[in-house]
Amino acid sequence: MTPPDNDPRTEPFDLDYAPAPQSTAVVDIADEYGLFIDGDFVESRSGRTFATTNPATEEHLADVAEGSKDDVDRAVAAARNAYEGHWGALSGRERGKYMFRIARQIQERARQFAVLETIDGGKPIRESRDVDIPLSAAWFFYYAGWADKLEYAFPGRRVAPHGVAGQIIPWNFPLMMAAWKLAPALATGNTVVLKPAETTPLTALLLADVIRDVGLPPGVVNIVTGAGATGAALVDHTGIDKLAFTGSTEVGKRIQRATSGRRLPLTLELGGKAAHIVFDDSAVDQAVEGIVNGIYFNQGHVCCAGSRLLVQESVAEEFTLRLKRRMAVLRLGDPLDKNTDVGAINSAEQLRRITDMVDAGVAEGADLHQPDCDLPERGYWYPPTVFTGVQQSHSVARDEIFGPVLTVQTFRTPQEAVDKANNTPYGLSAGIWTEKGSRILWMAEQLRAGVVWANTYNQFDPASPFGGYKESGFGREGGLHGLAPYLRAAGRVA
Ligand code: NAI
Ligand code: MG
Repeated sequence: MTPPDNDPRTEPFDLDYAPAPQSTAVVDIADEYGLFIDGDFVESRSGRTFATTNPATEEHLADVAEGSKDDVDRAVAAARNAYEGHWGALSGRERGKYMFRIARQIQERARQFAVLETIDGGKPIRESRDVDIPLSAAWFFYYAGWADKLEYAFPGRRVAPHGVAGQIIPWNFPLMMAAWKLAPALATGNTVVLKPAETTPLTALLLADVIRDVGLPPGVVNIVTGAGATGAALVDHTGIDKLAFTGSTEVGKRIQRATSGRRLPLTLELGGKAAHIVFDDSAVDQAVEGIVNGIYFNQGHVCCAGSRLLVQESVAEEFTLRLKRRMAVLRLGDPLDKNTDVGAINSAEQLRRITDMVDAGVAEGADLHQPDCDLPERGYWYPPTVFTGVQQSHSVARDEIFGPVLTVQTFRTPQEAVDKANNTPYGLSAGIWTEKGSRILWMAEQLRAGVVWANTYNQFDPASPFGGYKESGFGREGGLHGLAPYLRAAGRVA
């Protein structure tokens, strides 16, 4: 059925927006940044640096110290000293006080963090302002609350911190990933060496500033910037007692191999290829909104992105029409404009990966649709994209693209939806849209995914555990579950 010309579902919908630029006056970016070791910013031993740029403009922002093996060594030693010197024995109540201070400082400096996050990583200011930064503060508040209540978290058991935790984070939610890692580690009495991603180190370094301001004892948190080699040096360091990684499945597997044979507690939060399932009884417009949020939020640089739309056959045509119409009014452009929905792709390399994967989808015979939208001349950009006519064998339906690219497949019965949703090596998240509560519960039981959202998507809360099945990794972050990976059993309560 083709809609008539005057069908409101396909009619162009054009609104002019005045520019609404976010001022950058609150942010002061230095020319150079050192490593944050033992409470101070220091140069790397080798003197080597790498550049971080603004992916929306390709502007060079700063030169950042590249941590070598030696530097990782220094950072681990500082963390060990801090752990053995005082932090490991400090009462939970005292640890909590520092963490509450960090949380409040993130709130007080929220504007500065949000603008810097957007400049360094390309995500829309609307998202860094409304999602990344508030959630980062919330994570510290939440885990600060646990710091003096661990005996209630694990009743009947004595628990103790591991000691020094190594933590490696990706570039898609730079500050938020730092908060997800640091907060549970500190609440449980560990000290930390954190390695931010090479394209987005600046907000972690601003957080180092906060950490210093609140008087956190030197060495409790150390931040070593650099790329994969710096991360690998941390992984290989025998002085760490726990390792947590968020990033690609490929690197996750490499880390698991590298640490095999060592008794190193490990958590991995890796990739995803989530099914986002729409039934014929769902509230269509809300579901369209949910699908759009599920895949185009943060340019699709989201491990739990709803990248595979599974829509019930009876409503597929209608739904796809409405989806395309909604995509046509997404505003792509300057991430610092408060009206922007889709910002810049994080790096030239990621843009190349997305482009290659989409080209492969076209070559395999899937039907590509991209709304008309002007891409800025400078910077790294990719338009919101949807593939219809997708077969399960197509690479775009199987591989994580980590960009604004959605595939559409159909199903007839709930069982078929489950089978298709689970037909993936990943299992981080899934979404369901239906009016029927019993169906939601049945589906959630069947789906092999760590998080299942119903009639909503991409909702995060520090009290709610997050993590994967299968090749999406293991271990949970958030909630009570998120404390466990940072603790070891130390006997039963007498
Ligand atoms: P990546 O996995 O290489 O990077 C994540 C972090 O690991 C960064 O801090 C990086 O410096 C570090 N790292 C890289 N190699 C390492 C090694 N051998 N040992 C220790 N640490 C290492 O991810 P990348 O290259 O930035 O992105 C590649 C693809 O990975 C993306 O296209 C996307 O599909 C996926 N990805 C998934 C993420 C997720 O949260 N699920 C996050 C980032 C990337
Ligand atoms: Mg950058």
